[in-house]
Formats: sequence, structure tokens, C-alpha cells
Amino acid sequence: MSVRETVMVIGGAGYIGSHTAKELSTEYNVIVYDNLYRGHKWAVQFGEFIEGDILDTKRLTETLKRYSVKGVFHFAAHSLVGESVSDPLKYWQNNVAGTLSVLEAMKQGKVNHIVFSSTAAVFGEPEEVPINEEARLVPCNPYGATKLTVENILSQCRDAHGLSYSVLRYFNAAGADPDSMLGEDHSPETHLIPLVLDAALGRRKSISIFGDDYDTFDGTCVRDYIHVTDLATAHVLAYKRSIKENSSLSLNLGNGQGYSVRQVIDVVKKTTKVDFTVETAPRRQGDPPSLIASSEKAIRLLGWKPCYNSLEDIVETAWNWHRKHFA
Ligand code: UFG
Repeated sequence: MSVRETVMVIGGAGYIGSHTAKELSTEYNVIVYDNLYRGHKWAVQFGEFIEGDILDTKRLTETLKRYSVKGVFHFAAHSLVGESVSDPLKYWQNNVAGTLSVLEAMKQGKVNHIVFSSTAAVFGEPEEVPINEEARLVPCNPYGATKLTVENILSQCRDAHGLSYSVLRYFNAAGADPDSMLGEDHSPETHLIPLVLDAALGRRKSISIFGDDYDTFDGTCVRDYIHVTDLATAHVLAYKRSIKENSSLSLNLGNGQGYSVRQVIDVVKKTTKVDFTVETAPRRQGDPPSLIASSEKAIRLLGWKPCYNSLEDIVETAWNWHRKHFA
């Protein structure tokens, strides 16, 4: 019997981290490292749990050495754009200083492979969509700026001491584990799909559309929703490539299709068969009109193939989990 490799999922009690831990657990020993600041203990269902902070370099190093960890998946970040504008220091401290600590621990623990959660926010307001990896990196909020800074640090570490990294830039992560064991539970919740599902479930009175006068086909913002399990699969593939080729890459991950806020609301109404109140509200500061990924590079280099291509499929998995978890 071959011995399983051990990987560490930092931030594995969070939304995307927990789904990735599930995918990884079929092939690897998984260690989940999380401080439970916004993650949930119940979400750690796949792997051994270590409660710890990313700024605790000593604890990270000890854990990496104790379990002979071969690779790290780093999800632990603050990710609310609005909060990053009102409290930038919190974002630089956790997202950048925290990642420096992870990288230092990896250096001390002789761990050479990292898969890093980046974001479409590194592109700011893109000049054209779909957005490929060559697009200009001009983040327009502190959250995106912290992620871009880490991307730069990773490439310096690659040049200086041969670190092998996979930077994965998510567009709009959505949906839930098809087995309804895991799902999206942020506090506070700011994301469109869970908020619309809350309206369908009667957990909120109505849903507000933040701006209906954008230069898009129906006036509301267009986003590229990608299923969280498809994102998880991309992490596993990127890690395998990193191990096999000992090389680094940066990839955009989306479905390549844009849906407007109004379309999302319509699909939720159709899926849930609930008619709830929809209001129009002013634009939310810093929202680009349209963000759609070109994932051609991920498909080509990783052989990645998203399984949840339609918004209907994505919303259905989210709804199944949402009503089980919150009703
Ligand atoms: N929206 C509403 N009403 C709501 C909530 C959201 O109309 O109650 C709109 C937003 O204005 C936006 C769209 O729905 O146009 C999607 O909003 P989300 O908050 O769900 O997602 P974002 O596109 O703002 O954010 C995502 C990621 C961030 C990342 C950002 C990059 O969740 O982590 O893309 O721009 F930084």
C-alpha cells in the first residue's frame, strides 16, 4: 500500500477551503489549519484540524514539520472589499504579513509548493472582457492590492529560492457541495447568491439590486459565477502540476459566461419557486460593471473542465444546502 502524501489547507474551515479539503481528501492526508475567525468548525469534515493563526510562524512551522507536509493550500484571507476600504491595515496585516509568515514557515519546514487563493479583484476595472492572464493588474481596492502584493512576493520567492506556486484567481465562487455537506456561510454575508437565497427562505424581507444603470445589457452588474467544487478541482490539478513539473503559474478561474444581477434573481426565483420582493438601490462603491474570466489557460494547462456550466445548476446546489443549513 502506498503512503499518502500530506497537504495542509490553511483556511480550510472557510467556504472554498473546506470544499477543496473535501476534494483533496480522496487522495491525500489533509491537515486543516484555521483560526476560526470567519471559518466554521463544522466545515472541517475532511482532515485533521489544527486551530492556529497564520501570523503564528512557529506553530505553522512545527505543524509542517510534524506532519511532513509536502504542499500548502493557502485560503486564509480577509476578503470583503468594503471592509478593506474602511480598515486597510487589517487587510495588509492578515493577507500580506500573514502570507509572509506562511512563506517563512514553509522555508523553515522545507515545503516548496503552494497553491494561493487570488482574486479577480487584482484586475480592478478591466479594459476588456473576457479577462485573460495578460490583462493589466490594477486593483482598485485594498483587498485586491493585498492579493496582488502576495502574487509579487511569490514570484520573488520563486526566483530567489525555487518556490513553486500556483496562483488561482477566482471570479465569483458560488454554489455548494453537491452532497450538501458543505456550503457558503459568511458572517456578515455580502455575496449576491446567498443573500437572494435568504430572501427566498424568508430570512430577509427583500433583495436590493445595487444599481440598474450600468452599461450592461439589462443595466445590472454582470459576473462570472463558478461552482466552488469546480474551483476545488482546479486546486487539486494545479497542485499535481506543481509537483510534477516543479513550475509556477497564475490562472484565472471562471466559467467564461456572464450573468447579470437580475438574471441571478430570476434563476433563484425559478429554482426555489418563491416570489420575493426585489428593490433597486444605489450602486455599491467599487463594483466594476462586468467581470468575466477567460479560463482558456487553465483548461489548456491543467486539463480543467468545470462541470457546473449553467447558473441553474450552481443555484440548485446552493439552494439545497442553504435550506438544509438555515431553515
Ligand atoms: N449585489 C447586489 N445586491 C446585493 C449583493 C450584491 O446587487 O445584495 C451585486 C453586486 O453589486 C455585484 C454582484 O451582485 O454587482 C455580485 O456581488 P458579490 O458581492 O456577490 O460579488 P463581487 O462580484 O462583488 O465580489 C467577488 C468576490 C470578491 C472579489 C470580487 C472582485 O466575492 O472576493 O468579486 O471584484 F473581490
